[in-house]
Amino acid sequence: MPTTWTPDSWRSRPIRQVPAYPDLAKLAAVEEKLRRYPPLVFAGEVRRLKAALARAADGRAFVLQGGDCAESFQDFTANIIRDTFRVLLQMSVVLTFGASLPVVKLGRMAGQFAKPRSSDTDTRDGQTLPTYRGDIVNGAEFTAEARVPDPTRMETGYFQSAGTLNLLRAFATGGYADLHEVHRWNLGFVARSPLIERYQTLAHRIDETLAFMSACGISSATTPQIRETDFFTSHEALLLPYEQALTRVDSTSGDWYACSAHFLWIGDRTRQPDGAHVEFMRGVKNPIGLKVGPSTPIEDLLRLIDILNPDDEPGRLTLIARMGADKVERVLPPLVRAVRREGRRVVWVCDPMHGNTIASNAGLKTRSFDAILAEVRGFFDVHAAEGSWAGGVHVEMTGHEVTECIGGAHGLTMMDLGERYETFCDPRLNAEQSLELAFLVAEELTARRLPLDRSPAVAAQ
Ligand code: PEP
Ligand code: CO
Repeated sequence: MPTTWTPDSWRSRPIRQVPAYPDLAKLAAVEEKLRRYPPLVFAGEVRRLKAALARAADGRAFVLQGGDCAESFQDFTANIIRDTFRVLLQMSVVLTFGASLPVVKLGRMAGQFAKPRSSDTDTRDGQTLPTYRGDIVNGAEFTAEARVPDPTRMETGYFQSAGTLNLLRAFATGGYADLHEVHRWNLGFVARSPLIERYQTLAHRIDETLAFMSACGISSATTPQIRETDFFTSHEALLLPYEQALTRVDSTSGDWYACSAHFLWIGDRTRQPDGAHVEFMRGVKNPIGLKVGPSTPIEDLLRLIDILNPDDEPGRLTLIARMGADKVERVLPPLVRAVRREGRRVVWVCDPMHGNTIASNAGLKTRSFDAILAEVRGFFDVHAAEGSWAGGVHVEMTGHEVTECIGGAHGLTMMDLGERYETFCDPRLNAEQSLELAFLVAEELTARRLPLDRSPAVAAQ
């Protein structure tokens, strides 16, 4: 029998990836402050996301989750937020229009600050320091001072998340996301890209459709869906003192919600069934994600599904598979089969980034666009073969013209990486590579989509 859940019941479980805060009184003071601050999201919005994800579980929607590997305090500017939002909108339009499916848009933004690390220490030129755990914990600079975990960073993380979320909400509902703006979302440099023609053709088709609909009396003025979009936020729920402090009871339902973002996920390194992160996440009502890696045993996955979604609530659990292009077709099928066999309702999403990280000749972390694409295709193939729905993609991307992943329409090579390598953690797709991926995913979806009236879930109703 599971023990009683409370927002702090995770504290008695084994925990991994914890920062060694030197001053526990200071930590407690910051937690106390955060507990009194307003929630960043509201339970009604979170429930709306859960309903949208329930549609993605049975083939009636597709999830697009994307953003930085790690947000940084220094990159907290309107332009950076706008550019990421804009590329996600462009990708979403390509997917929606290309595949005639609603897209659930989930930014890895407004709180994606804490990072799990493979080692607790970092050694350079004979000096060993605590590892960098994301801006919400310590500083990235390689100095002893910067690397000391500082709890006041949680407060900065909270205020930056609030600022980012405020701008995202304004963009999503204030006219920027109006479908009549599709042409204008084109970034300057994507205008120089080989993809421009494809995007412009799509934008023209959307214009024609909107003109036709307007002639029929359906316009931005009459239909909010044309003028506005739903945009949700997500991050890895790694720093539990922060997450606990922002957990609130919803006054309408009496349920507990994590109010730091709409959607939280459990990372590959913290998904032990008896561990602290799983304990915290089982008690909050948000839709949640669970990273599933090549080393996840079937029994663990089924046990985790039981713990995290005991009532098989649709939209509650998203499994984010991050296998690697070379493993996905071997490792994923038994997991998909086991979940189907147990009759559990989940959204399967493909993270084609984290299983495909390689080191460049110069020692920089990179990923090849071809490997990313191969994993996405493998993921679609597995689901097609198993008769299950490939429900979405999860990518690390930015709206900027960075050179962090190799390949793509511009054929970036290892030699180009030094030019604009700006990530604080893992290599991201740049705007052009992100858009290219969206076109390729739209093709896959169009080729494989079941007509809605023949999809398994609808047929079963
Ligand atoms: C991430 O999403 O940035 C991450 C660390 O992924 P994973 O937990 O799958 O390694
Ligand atoms: Co990452």
